[in-house]
Amino acid sequence: MIIATTAAEVRRQVRAWQRAGLTVGLVPTMGYLHEGHASLIDCAKRECDRVVASVFVNPTQFGPGEDLEAYPRDFEHDCALLSEHGCDMVFHPAVEEMYPDGGIVTYVELHNDMPKQLCGVTRPIHFRGVCTVVSKLFNIASPDKAFFGQKDAQQLAIIRRMARDMSYGIEIIGCPIVRDADGLAKSSRNTYLSPEERKAALVLSRAVRLGEKMVAEGETRAAVVLNAMQTLIEGEPLALIDYVSAVSLDTLMPVTEMKSGVLTAMAVYIGRTRLIDNFIIR
Ligand code: PAF
Repeated sequence: MIIATTAAEVRRQVRAWQRAGLTVGLVPTMGYLHEGHASLIDCAKRECDRVVASVFVNPTQFGPGEDLEAYPRDFEHDCALLSEHGCDMVFHPAVEEMYPDGGIVTYVELHNDMPKQLCGVTRPIHFRGVCTVVSKLFNIASPDKAFFGQKDAQQLAIIRRMARDMSYGIEIIGCPIVRDADGLAKSSRNTYLSPEERKAALVLSRAVRLGEKMVAEGETRAAVVLNAMQTLIEGEPLALIDYVSAVSLDTLMPVTEMKSGVLTAMAVYIGRTRLIDNFIIR
């Protein structure tokens, strides 16, 4: 596996692959990789001839007081996982490589309500940072396809819209949520949880299962489903709800009816750790 630290190296290598007629998949990550990321690499391997992963903890998507400094990092472990899953190149730039001259003044940002909903209420600059860095990665790697987890459903919807609006010509592929055996959605932030909090965190996947079951049994009123999920979460003493919402998968605007194309998403603090989970009605 090639380890690249500069944009120029990535451009050179991807161009060489594409000149040889090979397709290239990009898997953007912030590192501290787990089976969720591995499933993105596996999916990219199935769909593309060569796979590039990026490992970069992107400062512009963290607001003041968020966990930028504390965000877990282990590049050696990341490389082992990536090469085990057949990743061809990892791009691991320094902050100065991505944001030279002490910062950035050009941002990529959606000017509709999508970044203001759900996580955007408490993380107002988050999606501007995500779109900016993903757009830079798209420009650097010019992949044919890019792969993102469905766990970050709002991020995926926003990136789809950005890629369409900016005419990237890159196919955006969403991959299913990967869970631990007991249901907890895989997340690099799960490492912040104490054993007691780890148990309490199961309330998120329990709420997802409850919501899915109610919909499967015919409940169509969003308010009823959301109420039941909220009540379940509130029964867990270590949990504090940020939001539990049902929105349109395309626009991220709230809906009243549980039907195909609805994303039910939640963010819940377990102690000081903010976790997200969701389900989509197909
Ligand atoms: O989902 C993530 O890990 C990040 O938001 C991403 C897409 C790699 C951008 O930094």
